[in-house]
Amino acid sequence: MGDTLRGLVLAGGTGSRLRPLTYTRSKQLLPVANRPILFYAIEALVAAGITEVGVVVGDTAREIEAALGSGSQLGCRITYIPQAAPLGLAHAVAVSAPFLDGHPFLMYLGDNLLKGGVSDFARRFREADWDAGILLTAVPHPEHFGVAVVDDRTGGVVRLVEKPAVPPSNLALVGVYLFRPVIFDVVHGLQPSARGELEITDALQQLLDRGRTVHAERVQGWWKDTGKPEDLLEANRLVLEDLSPQRAASAQVDDESQVSGRVVLSDGVVVRRSTLRGPVVLGPGTVVQDSFIGPFTSLGSGVRVSHTEIENSIVLADAVLDDVPGRIDGSLLGQGTRVTRRRTAPHAITLVTGDHCLVEVL
Ligand code: G1P
Repeated sequence: MGDTLRGLVLAGGTGSRLRPLTYTRSKQLLPVANRPILFYAIEALVAAGITEVGVVVGDTAREIEAALGSGSQLGCRITYIPQAAPLGLAHAVAVSAPFLDGHPFLMYLGDNLLKGGVSDFARRFREADWDAGILLTAVPHPEHFGVAVVDDRTGGVVRLVEKPAVPPSNLALVGVYLFRPVIFDVVHGLQPSARGELEITDALQQLLDRGRTVHAERVQGWWKDTGKPEDLLEANRLVLEDLSPQRAASAQVDDESQVSGRVVLSDGVVVRRSTLRGPVVLGPGTVVQDSFIGPFTSLGSGVRVSHTEIENSIVLADAVLDDVPGRIDGSLLGQGTRVTRRRTAPHAITLVTGDHCLVEVL
């Protein structure tokens, strides 16, 4: 037993809405501004003074462990907690009981990004006596989330419901939760929901039913759940909005190139006869020639771009874009992807795609 707040980061799940990228990597390791989404979550916990972090892992456990290691590089100590099947957020809490060991804890969904972090929320929880804390934000499509009804007069949470067909409010539960050990009183008795999962929203409702206090706060700054490709692109835009320009000593930009706005040029970047219009981040060893890299683009390490225009996109490591007609926009390209112009007849479109790819041609 103890009072120190522990962290619980959920990094399992299948990431089905991000296929094909999630066939080969965990969704929490997809990059936003060239850093895995999961790193932002761990950093937010560390910034909130949490140093003991449990990471719940599923099928992609090996990859997650390779990326995070012991946690020491991120300033914490990580314990990996295997979840045999993705049976819901409350199930993840249940399997984490030995790690949590009677401590209060902050649960953070590893595919969520919050600009404002969680430090203030965690500080207020430490000073208060609520049994649980949730973060809410107004969304246009509450039916895709857990939804809260809040009493206008007292600000207290009245009711919580997971993905209701007819939402009782537009306030979505954000993927950050604070709990005291009393949550285990209700987690163990939950029944699976219509989607076959043990819902943390149902556990919270049961706390309310037992007269426990569930405190709600509104998210400060933006919040993004990166479940779908367009969410990932938006998260990339939001993070790049705050980009600080940086130029590694080994980065080379020739006199015929123009770099404007906030741009990060990593080690070994080479830019020739090109225009970079920030915010843009170029990963280590990326080579850009005779090209335009427009706002809100993240190019991973070793990417090669020539005679091509691209903006508002995420390109993973070692991809090659060569002589692509038109401008690439709003795209998410996996590692080692090649997009080129066919120079020989027949002048046809040639595609070699994995399952669940999306190709939109001019
Ligand atoms: C989960 C929760 C939901 C919450 C959402 C936030 O949904 O069940 O209540 O609003 O995270 O990202 P899921 O990502 O499992 O669909």
